[in-house]
Amino acid sequence: MFQKDIFKIDEWKIIQNKFSKEDMRFCESITSLGNGYMGLRGNFEESYSDDFHKGTYIAGVWYPDKTKVGWWKNGYPEYFGKVINATDFIGIKVFINDKQLDLAKANIKDFHKELDMKNGVLKRSFILIDDNKETKIEVIRFLSIDIKEICAIRYNVKPLNHSCKIKFIPYLDGNISNEDSNYEEKFWLETDKKISDEYGYLTMKTIKNPFSIEQFSVCTSMKTKLNKEFDINTNECKSYVEQNIILEANEGEEIYLDKIISVTTSRDYSENELLDKSLDILNTAFDLGFDLLKQKHEELWNKRWELADVEIKGSIEAQQGIRFNIFHLFSTYYGEDKRLNIGPKGFTGEKYGGATYWDTEAYAIPMYLSIADSNISKNLLLYRYNQLDNAFVNAKKQGLEGALYPMVTFTGIECHNEWEITFEEIHRNGAMAHAIYNYVNYTGDKEYLKEFGIDVLISLSRFWASRVHYNSRKNQYMIHGVTGPNEYENNINNNWYTNKIATWTLKYTLEVIDYLKKENLSDKIDKLNIKDNELDKFKDIIDNMYYPYDKELDVFVQHDTFLDKELIKVKDLDPKHLPLNQKWSWDKILRSCFIKQADVLQGFYFFNEEFSYEQKKKNFEFYEPMTVHESSLSPCVHSILAAELKMEEKALEMYHRTARLDLDNYNNDTEDGLHITSMTGSWLAIVHGFAGMRTYNEELKFAPFMPNEWDSYSFKINYRNRLLKISIDKENILIKLEKGEKLKLKIYDESFELDNEIKTKLQ
Ligand code: BGC
Repeated sequence: MFQKDIFKIDEWKIIQNKFSKEDMRFCESITSLGNGYMGLRGNFEESYSDDFHKGTYIAGVWYPDKTKVGWWKNGYPEYFGKVINATDFIGIKVFINDKQLDLAKANIKDFHKELDMKNGVLKRSFILIDDNKETKIEVIRFLSIDIKEICAIRYNVKPLNHSCKIKFIPYLDGNISNEDSNYEEKFWLETDKKISDEYGYLTMKTIKNPFSIEQFSVCTSMKTKLNKEFDINTNECKSYVEQNIILEANEGEEIYLDKIISVTTSRDYSENELLDKSLDILNTAFDLGFDLLKQKHEELWNKRWELADVEIKGSIEAQQGIRFNIFHLFSTYYGEDKRLNIGPKGFTGEKYGGATYWDTEAYAIPMYLSIADSNISKNLLLYRYNQLDNAFVNAKKQGLEGALYPMVTFTGIECHNEWEITFEEIHRNGAMAHAIYNYVNYTGDKEYLKEFGIDVLISLSRFWASRVHYNSRKNQYMIHGVTGPNEYENNINNNWYTNKIATWTLKYTLEVIDYLKKENLSDKIDKLNIKDNELDKFKDIIDNMYYPYDKELDVFVQHDTFLDKELIKVKDLDPKHLPLNQKWSWDKILRSCFIKQADVLQGFYFFNEEFSYEQKKKNFEFYEPMTVHESSLSPCVHSILAAELKMEEKALEMYHRTARLDLDNYNNDTEDGLHITSMTGSWLAIVHGFAGMRTYNEELKFAPFMPNEWDSYSFKINYRNRLLKISIDKENILIKLEKGEKLKLKIYDESFELDNEIKTKLQ
């Protein structure tokens, strides 16, 4: 853990009471805001002259940044796709008596920044001291979830013991670049702008790219309002417009400036309509006014929480952690736009390019299935279905058949350029199949298989069938040259998890084909050109796959030569070496036994019901002590398995690590942005872990335990058109049916019928 004590522990708020320049980027990440359509790091509105990372991102607006590598390898993607840093629209320069406010230099007291997660609002206040003159500044901002194009800011200035001249300069600035651009190129060009006393706008367009990929236009417009008479003039220069607003404030008088901003993009409107739409939306919002906009926005956040809140009594740290995660997940994605997906950093930073990863299928869908409308998960599956053609292109590029879904993408085309990931981390393909299984098994929507699912499954299976090779000396199928989920080893042979998920995909595909045959859907089977000899090949691979296993240890072996390594436990490593990825050279990491994230154990999480308690225990006890959890996706899987194995302390330790990963900066990298996709981990740890919820074979089961430090916890799930509230305290489990028809379920393997409520003893 690298950072503590910056934020106060609070159930619903993230509160920072001390301003520190050194922690600026970290705090900016934590206090980011998003509304699924756009998002901002927690930057200040006024100027700041020290180090910080200005970040404004608009969902789906990206640029293919030409690949930069030292030595080109055939098959490399031509570009790395990036969600690009867009027009800075929150900016308001502030001058008090002609002196510019700049927190890097100013003398201030009572600094307070607060992210109110219940209401989706960011607030900030402090007192500026200049000689003996004190001026109170208060700022409130939100990105509306009622009108997605709208950002609203209220900037308050109150001279406490003096009268003063105030100058506000609200502006729109398109001179923005990505910190991570490959060639330090700016990705935007101005196409239109205007500034007047009443309003201003700036339209920027992404520059042309050599890959014939769509260019995006974004129109940002603004209007300001004050509660006092003022003088105004305007200014503009390249990709920039501003208003200059000057007024006098008396001692004790509170002056506020409301800046309302509207952002429209060519993803939603044609270039001809873009400006008119931006102004229409701006005017509607402006007429409603800051207070009404805020009220509506807060009501909607409260509605989201009614469904998704997890309440924990007895540990405010744990409570704050899970709400922080749910808040940022919903800020990134609430399923309104089918064309979008969930990027690992959401709108909080540039790392990972803001694109789609296997994280969505493996970690996000299992949670969204339970806490949001099932259409949202369906849309996430359709996102991949719609990209199937491009997944064929990826496989073909590697000389393989079927579909290879990319590690990183916007369109289905791979756009990650590290060979050990792009070419080798192919286990990701299995997660696509597993997500289809999860969705159908959870919702019961078998129609999905008929219409879309089978197309994807057969294409994935064809990929696996062409990627395995047959070793005739051992009479077994093998998969060589892969990277498993543990990215701290590359180019390994027979990664147990990859071999396992490959055959699982083949098996599931065969099951689905049988189901389609039973439903007399042979048309579909013919259309997909599925032949019996192809299915025989799948069966042969399933029956004859090689899985590394060690008899003496009785564990599945991560890959062929894993046990030849020097096997050391993380606890025996001097902590000064951690995190390894910041302290060790890459080759040293690759040679070591240390595991970045669940690998064999990822398989135990996915295919949990296939293994005995003993197998789970042995493999967990073997692998977890060598795991450094340096991927944010790691702790939750371990928390869930530890909970099942009654290793309660470990389960809780891993829960804290997933729930407070960013708040406590466990991996010392939160300044780059938040770990959005792994934020589902804290919910999964509570629901799949502590409450032991399982849904295999269309059966809903719970097997809860209560962590010692907690008094109670409760959550809601949406399951097959029903809404259930599950509350667990130190003695009882209470399950209430809040909506929908009665339902059969199991608690610790005992069958119940849930009509109204079930109350039973905690074991
Ligand atoms: C993990 C991957 C993950 C990616 C994005 C990496 O650090 O090893 O499994 O997909 O981050 O979250």
